[in-house]
Amino acid sequence: MPSKQDVKKNLFPSRKPGRRKQREKILGQKGVVLWLTGLSGSGKTTLALAVEQKLLGSGRLAYILDGDNIRGGLNSDLGFGNTDRSENIRRIAEVAALFADCGVVVITAFISPFRKDRDNAREIVGRKNFIEIFVDAPLNICENRDPKGLYRKVRKGLINNFTGISSPYEKPVSPDIVIRTDLLSLEEAAEAIMKHLRTKAMI
Ligand code: ADX
Repeated sequence: MPSKQDVKKNLFPSRKPGRRKQREKILGQKGVVLWLTGLSGSGKTTLALAVEQKLLGSGRLAYILDGDNIRGGLNSDLGFGNTDRSENIRRIAEVAALFADCGVVVITAFISPFRKDRDNAREIVGRKNFIEIFVDAPLNICENRDPKGLYRKVRKGLINNFTGISSPYEKPVSPDIVIRTDLLSLEEAAEAIMKHLRTKAMI
């Protein structure tokens, strides 16, 4: 088996400069990653779907990466220990970077509980194309919502390392956007993100 170092040494990236711009011109938009982070039950997927609908409705190519299409496939070998969560986020960031390089507006909806992993994702994607969105709701509200019945299972001792309860969630220090899903309607929350994108000339 060649070492990781050797593998990298013998790679010859074939990307040509300017191709991303060409693709973006064809699509009439910029590739960007909207990185949603927050507790289970905070509303990431619901918000991602609402923003995706707004983007598609206004003629922008948008795509959601979430547990359904990543943890069930590419990352089906990963669990919820700290090392696996880091690897989960690293792979998602790499995939998101490729989609953004295609010119797509990518919306990722993962807890991504660790700051260093989100910082790493920002580096992988590239700072200027990465928008960190803290989908914020107090733990007790997420637990009351319990859309998947998981908090109930956690309290019964059926799930270990559950974020916010038996595994940490490190809040973003300076996110680009904070969305309090317990205070805003879904429409207000999605519109706040659209407004940010328009203000920053990203759409
Ligand atoms: S992350 O921490 O690695 O970013 P990710 O967003 O992919 O997590 O997956 C979180 C989802 O997996 C939760 O919304 C929940 O449905 C499920 N899940 C199963 N076990 C756990 C756990 N121990 N902690 C958090 N979420 C879990």
